[in-house]
Amino acid sequence: MNTPHLRFTDIDPSIEERVDTLLKQMTLEEKVGQLVQINLGWREDTDDWVREGRVGSILSLTDTQEINRLQRIAVEESRLGIPLLIGNDVIHGYRTVFPIPLAESCTWEPALLERASRVAADEAAASGTDWIFAPMVDICRDPRWGRIAEGAGEDPFLGSAMAQARIRGFQAADLTSERRIVACPKHYVAYGAAEAGKDYNTVDISERTLRDVYLPPFKAAFDAGAGTVMSAFNELNGIPASANAFTLRTILREEWGFPGVVLSDFDAIGELIHHGFAEDHKTATRKSILAGVDVDMMGNAFPFHLAALVREGQTPENLVEHAVRRVLRLKFMLGLFEAPYTDESLADQITLTGENRALALEVCRKSMVLLKNEGKILPLSNSIETLAVIGPLADNHHEPLGCWTLQGRDEDVESVLDGLQAVLPENITLLHVPGCEIEGGDVDFDRAVSAALAADVVVMVLGESLMMSGEAHSRAHLDLPGRQQELLEAVVATGKPVVAVLMAGRPLAIPWMAEHVAAMLMAWHGGIRTGRAVADLLFGNAVPSGKLTASFPRSEGQIPVYYAHKSTGRPIDIRGIIQFDRAHKSQYLDESSDPLFPFGFGLSYTTFAYSDLAVETPEIGLDDTLVVSAKITNTGERTGDEIVQCYVRDLCGSVTRPVKELKGFKKVTLTPGESQIVHFEIPARTLGFHGLTMDYVVEPGEFWVWIGANAREGLKGAFTVIA
Ligand code: GLC
Repeated sequence: MNTPHLRFTDIDPSIEERVDTLLKQMTLEEKVGQLVQINLGWREDTDDWVREGRVGSILSLTDTQEINRLQRIAVEESRLGIPLLIGNDVIHGYRTVFPIPLAESCTWEPALLERASRVAADEAAASGTDWIFAPMVDICRDPRWGRIAEGAGEDPFLGSAMAQARIRGFQAADLTSERRIVACPKHYVAYGAAEAGKDYNTVDISERTLRDVYLPPFKAAFDAGAGTVMSAFNELNGIPASANAFTLRTILREEWGFPGVVLSDFDAIGELIHHGFAEDHKTATRKSILAGVDVDMMGNAFPFHLAALVREGQTPENLVEHAVRRVLRLKFMLGLFEAPYTDESLADQITLTGENRALALEVCRKSMVLLKNEGKILPLSNSIETLAVIGPLADNHHEPLGCWTLQGRDEDVESVLDGLQAVLPENITLLHVPGCEIEGGDVDFDRAVSAALAADVVVMVLGESLMMSGEAHSRAHLDLPGRQQELLEAVVATGKPVVAVLMAGRPLAIPWMAEHVAAMLMAWHGGIRTGRAVADLLFGNAVPSGKLTASFPRSEGQIPVYYAHKSTGRPIDIRGIIQFDRAHKSQYLDESSDPLFPFGFGLSYTTFAYSDLAVETPEIGLDDTLVVSAKITNTGERTGDEIVQCYVRDLCGSVTRPVKELKGFKKVTLTPGESQIVHFEIPARTLGFHGLTMDYVVEPGEFWVWIGANAREGLKGAFTVIA
């Protein structure tokens, strides 16, 4: 696991020479061919296209024999023998399916995500994948958007750390030491800011928000050496992202010097027509290649119009050649010319191994978030005699796989029931009643109520199917689907203590549940080890440590609700404004302004006390580092992990600044009674923003700093940045 990852952003002169030599031999059609990416369903005559050098890469193909067959045509039957790239969506595991990325981000452990990404990449590489269409690094502050499931939540600082970890993990894959894997951060850019949380919807944000919130995880990914990037479906401020010269050329190439390949999302170039940005495919082709897209994924644009545009002088051939150069460079760096074929015996040796399954369990346990634990009902006591397990997701082997499972199989999944049966002490009788479907179908509330009445404790496993999140699966209502709420209320009405295990691909608006159940465990869609992780946490074989990376709203009306919001001129806690009463503040008449559960929130089976905040550098220059610390003490009876967070606020700026911004986090393990001083060292250079001139600036002035357990609470101090 200690192979250094490959930085595709480092240019190797020897490879450049090989690219030059090859490029000089290529016809215009063969150059265009390298910029075409198709799947096998696209045409009947794919073999011919490959043989004629009209295809450069293939997506969504995992059959190793088929990959090798097509690769032989490319290498041994085409004129120049340029190998194909094989790209796949390995979003949260390949065959060893990990929790959805939003869940994984709740571990707040980049190193763990790096290991998980490495396993996913090795399994994918063993089956013939060269190009992983991940990590999805879209920041999202609207849980209606189904693709929030694929990312790392609402915060650019945390999102950047997770993006870098995944690039390191994916690009470290070196199964045969000749072949490598390249990652593809996506979707460039601001796809997660879709209006109303509706997928593919319009994005209209300020350049400052673009630069301060949505771009940083991409920059972090490229700084870690990511070799490609995928342009998004959405329009951004009137210009579709897959034909946006400002983001694709000015920022990506001129400001950042990114040398890698820009791949469009699935026919995003053709969709320029539907955006009303191009009259036809030929115009769409010209606009996107001029703006900076290199490869057309599944589009009827480049393959049919790019050569003609060059011949007609509407597109400079050197622009095409730059794009081809980037693709060829990638193929050389991936080792495809030396080792184009995949050893078909490899996959069975390294896929779904015991080690991979153990890692999936570790990630799964650490991704789950304990949201409530009234009266310490959890961990469940071995002294209970009867446990009722109720709900449509209790014995489900499919939904835990989550929204992007390429090779995931139901047969690999441990359901919650499986997990409980594996860990349940023999003296406990388990009663299982689904009670209703996830949505639709029959209900059996009576049997569920009877089981509850016969039990000492009830575990309810409720939530979303995997198809309720992910691409094209936005929801306007974030409640429990179907008749699950009725089932929940019927069981709670029995008066028995209820522990809710919630499965979903997003934060849900579940205030009734939060008020009426004794305990709540957010299990997300946890992948193949979901059931065992839930059971281990419920019975205390593991201690919850996960913390939220996306705020849970009380209602859809609050959205967007996120911690790093602005103060406004009428903050709810303002003092001294005598002419206005409380009503004249930025708030609702009919809803709190606070989320149900805030960013960074999560409970443990022990408790932690924060004390002795020390701002060791009360005054720092622009090139200095803020050093701040606090003492964390385990004040409970069990060893536990605590994710300690550090936030700052820039009190006054040339533009308004958020009321809090995450600038550091550390996870510490403490035994009962143990204390640890946790230090954060935060360079002043990281306290900046894009100012009036849209340049990144750090402005002298007063700052607050917090060290705390989540975005809502913490020990507060102050420091000054001086010029
Ligand atoms: C999809 C998704 C993108 C994915 C691509 C290939 O439409 O937007 O995330 O990588 O197509 O499957």
